[in-house]
Amino acid sequence: MKKSKIIGTGMYVPPYKLTNQDLEKMVDTSNEWIISRTGIEERRICKDEETTDIAFNAAVMAIKNAGIKAEEIDMIIMATITSENLTPSGACEVQKKLGAINATAFDINAACSGFIYGLTIADSFICSGGAKNVLVVGAEVLSKIVDWKDRNTCVLFGDGAGAALLTQSESEGIMGYVTKSNGDKGEYLKCASRQLNEDNSILNNKFVTMNGKEVFKFATKAMVDSVEEVLKKSNTKIEDIKYIIPHQANKRIIEFAASKLNLPLEKFYINLNLYGNTSSASIPIALSEVVEKAMVKKGDKIILVGFGGGLTYGCILIEW
Ligand code: COA
Repeated sequence: MKKSKIIGTGMYVPPYKLTNQDLEKMVDTSNEWIISRTGIEERRICKDEETTDIAFNAAVMAIKNAGIKAEEIDMIIMATITSENLTPSGACEVQKKLGAINATAFDINAACSGFIYGLTIADSFICSGGAKNVLVVGAEVLSKIVDWKDRNTCVLFGDGAGAALLTQSESEGIMGYVTKSNGDKGEYLKCASRQLNEDNSILNNKFVTMNGKEVFKFATKAMVDSVEEVLKKSNTKIEDIKYIIPHQANKRIIEFAASKLNLPLEKFYINLNLYGNTSSASIPIALSEVVEKAMVKKGDKIILVGFGGGLTYGCILIEW
């Protein structure tokens, strides 16, 4: 039976760093509060770059690492909630910039679970023979939809992009996945569409709103339940997992899930101190760093797990 495997990863974050000390000057907060409640120290913010620009940069790195040409890509799936336009999609913009002339390109919206959902779609197309090489990108300029006057949300988020190139495999690759949605809890994490003028200036901006405590409860349960379910589905023991790469929302969410799963925190890759929560980009950025640091080798089993707006969640087990 055919499988899909990741053969290239990439990431890009904008150079400008917004530190907790910078935020102390913008809202009534403190470095100590942010670190103790979230683990975040700084985040990157786009100054001139748009979502599809940073998506393109991450995609170029993934394609280069995969060692294929842009024309060999059959499909581009972009997970984003902050693309410049409703149409053309972010994926079509990335296709144009890459010159990936043979690709079918479309966006998906599953907020912070978007990259996980994207990988499962790629896996389905590859396993059914509908596509051979699929590029999945998670890219967000969340700074566009964050209310910089709201201390409840603005300290949490950052901008960035990550990507993975998947291809057919006869042996290793995606071993199993779980995806779920709780639309009935959508109110807990919301952002309405914003309206632009003809010249792209903002007519009516809409910002992210959140019930932090409810999202926290949902996130921890989603992480634990989906990791347990994916292990069961793929007939794998938790001891056989080398790393878990979680959505980088909050260190306390990861610590809570680690203790519920009876795992040491060292099993979890964490970089949220540097980038904050970059929504759909957080897992592919972390995965790209894990690969660049040579932390995974052939045969290792890893888990990617995400949760977010919708509410949505999902988990994938990969044999590298
Ligand atoms: N600086 C200082 N104080 C802040 C603050 C900030 N940046 N943000 C909120 N507060 C205040 C609140 O106004 C509230 O004050 P009050 O008690 O006077 O009303 C108080 O801190 C709440 O504190 P606490 O109950 O300790 O917060 P918490 O432990 O629930 O932590 C979050 C708040 C947002 C960090 C936490 O709920 C969380 O991480 N939730 C999940 C959010 C998330 O990850 N969303 C994205 C998912 S994809």
